[in-house]
Amino acid sequence: MADFALHQDAEVLRLITTEENDEQEALFAAARRQREIYYRKDVYFRGLVEFTNYCKNDCYYCGIRRSNSRITRYRLSLTEILHSCQVGARLGFKTFVLQGGEDPWFTDQRVVEMVAAIRAAYPDHAITLSIGERSQESYKAFFQAGANRYLLRHETANDAHYRKLHPETMSLAERKRCLFTLKDMGYQVGAGFMVGTPFQTPENLVEDLRFLQALEPHMVGIGPFIPQADTPFGTYPGGTLALTLRMVALTRLLLPRALIPATTALGTIAPQGRELGLMAGANVVMPNLSPKEVRKLYALYDNKICTGDEAAECRFCMEGRMRNFGFTPNMSRGDPPDVEARRRV
Ligand code: 5AD
Ligand code: FES
Repeated sequence: MADFALHQDAEVLRLITTEENDEQEALFAAARRQREIYYRKDVYFRGLVEFTNYCKNDCYYCGIRRSNSRITRYRLSLTEILHSCQVGARLGFKTFVLQGGEDPWFTDQRVVEMVAAIRAAYPDHAITLSIGERSQESYKAFFQAGANRYLLRHETANDAHYRKLHPETMSLAERKRCLFTLKDMGYQVGAGFMVGTPFQTPENLVEDLRFLQALEPHMVGIGPFIPQADTPFGTYPGGTLALTLRMVALTRLLLPRALIPATTALGTIAPQGRELGLMAGANVVMPNLSPKEVRKLYALYDNKICTGDEAAECRFCMEGRMRNFGFTPNMSRGDPPDVEARRRV
């Protein structure tokens, strides 16, 4: 069995940059073995509802940034959000992920109302929020209303690099504070980063992994950067499949119990990108439950897949794809192993 000395930065750096096929295969195989210890060949399904594409931020990479006047903005009503959850529940999903831009219309009160309504209708489902940076009080209110999980990618753990991807109004320190606050509060927390963003160095990626080890999030979202034409980074090259897969595998080896999605972005840059993500140690997929009419409008990057499909089509397409690669779709809540054990006692 391949042994990697991942406590050494030099070894991690070497694996991040390796182009040796045998070595990459050994890395993916080791990652698969790790994931099977806790999760066998199961792949957890989460239903994603993209409920607003308004955003007050102006991240240079993101298609729904405030300054992009070329996209049509939308916001789902509470009725539409609940309807999407209902469609998802009927398809067997036990986790709803409510994702949106940082939309000030969704005040704490409105978010609480949304979470409470979903919680009331689905007492046993997991509710995941992914709506960016808010105050500790806000996070507390969402938790008390029934949210269990929170996704907030750190994007890059290097301060100078963070500065190059975001306007001055945003800070890595604040982002990290949010992540630790959420975790302390009892949320299952998801961090993560993009691979191949402009100005990113292999050393930056080592820092991402070391940050993840320090935070110990329950979930880690990793996807390639994909240029979006109407953004300042629209003409930069995107992240590669191979590097993204290596980062997924290294993350699996360093955080064996993490829930790691094979992201839509990975599926966008290669026809079987998500399947290859699972083969590199990922164990979650997030089919889209948003109404078909708004799918194309949640355009973080260009050529996003699954924008023309109904929720049911995505759900069953994904199941077939997983099975073709020998994986077992798992529709349970998919809590991390330690949380699962506590829920049972
Ligand atoms: N390419 C790939 N991923 C992107 N995201 C935002 N813009 C892009 C892009 N152009 C990712 C960010 C964000 C998540 C919701 O989507 O990492 O946290
Ligand atoms: Fe969405 Fe295949 S996973 S259409």
